[in-house]
Amino acid sequence: MRALGVGILGLGNVGAGTVRLLGEHRARIEARLGASVHIRRVLVRDPARERAVATAPGLLTTDIEAVLGDPEIAVVVELMGGIEPARSYILAALRAGKHVVTANKAVLAERGAEIFAEAARVGRAVVFEGSVAGGIPLLRSLREGLASDRITGLCGIVNGTSNYILDAMTRTGAGFAEALAAAQAAGYAEADPTLDVGGGDAAHKLALLALVAFGVQVDPSTIPTEGISDITAFDIRSAAELGFVIKSLAIGQRDDHGVSLRVHPTLVPRGHVLAGVQGAFNAVLVQSDALGPSLYYGRGAGMMPTAVAVVSDILEVARDILAGLYSGTGPSGQPTILPAAPATLRPLAEVVCAHYLC
Ligand code: HSE
Repeated sequence: MRALGVGILGLGNVGAGTVRLLGEHRARIEARLGASVHIRRVLVRDPARERAVATAPGLLTTDIEAVLGDPEIAVVVELMGGIEPARSYILAALRAGKHVVTANKAVLAERGAEIFAEAARVGRAVVFEGSVAGGIPLLRSLREGLASDRITGLCGIVNGTSNYILDAMTRTGAGFAEALAAAQAAGYAEADPTLDVGGGDAAHKLALLALVAFGVQVDPSTIPTEGISDITAFDIRSAAELGFVIKSLAIGQRDDHGVSLRVHPTLVPRGHVLAGVQGAFNAVLVQSDALGPSLYYGRGAGMMPTAVAVVSDILEVARDILAGLYSGTGPSGQPTILPAAPATLRPLAEVVCAHYLC
């Protein structure tokens, strides 16, 4: 049986989940792929640190060259998060002829143009299902399931922490600070939750959704973004009296004049399908010409949900390698995402007045 070598960068929660899932589903993976997937190296900062998963002796390394220089490693899985050194390691992996799987929305949203251009130049894949909505097969659905359709809009809850906080405020009457503390105690919000409650995390994810759904490349700092930290218990009560719940939505629309993107707290009618999304769950409603509405719902974060997306990406790349898609060298390969044209967003003023809610 053929063996495909994998190197993992980072052994935090999602890295540990990925190692666990590849181990637990080994037989299923081999049956499906007709090949085995071997983790050959895992890059960590501190090999002595206690981990959520046991690893074989000698697997951990602190030397990136032990991963990039291993000719048996075909796929590098970047799970470090943040911009640097993740960006440099991804580019180095591509230049070393590796395919890249990542769940890092920040590096792709901020530096995706450079990364996708390099992938196209060297003919290697960059796949990133775990970067948006965790384990929900959302990007794959947009990329493959709706490949025959034209996506015109999407809107959804893509930051589980914000939804957990707003949902707690709605159900218990708590204020923002109290609900945030509950989210932190439940392990959802980061110790520094700025990216979550400020909307930055959702803007990163919306930039990637726009890339896959609309084929446009957007600088996330240009997406009009408003967080939830100014929402009060009074706002929640007033909305309820009028028949609405407040949800933080990432919204993308495309028409003949261009693309508009935005992230902000939104009044959602109580009967709307997104109104009932509770806790840290994610849900994205997509509109496409031929299919109409389709809904993607599930756990958008966490160790095992995100690991599902990461391992599925590894299997997708493995399948393409085994099918001979990358048998040539250089740009003859087939990167999954081609570099997209930079997009100019339509001015927000054109869209905020529209009574449009997906
Ligand atoms: N902080 C993110 C969230 C984690 O709350 O959704 C997943 O990207």
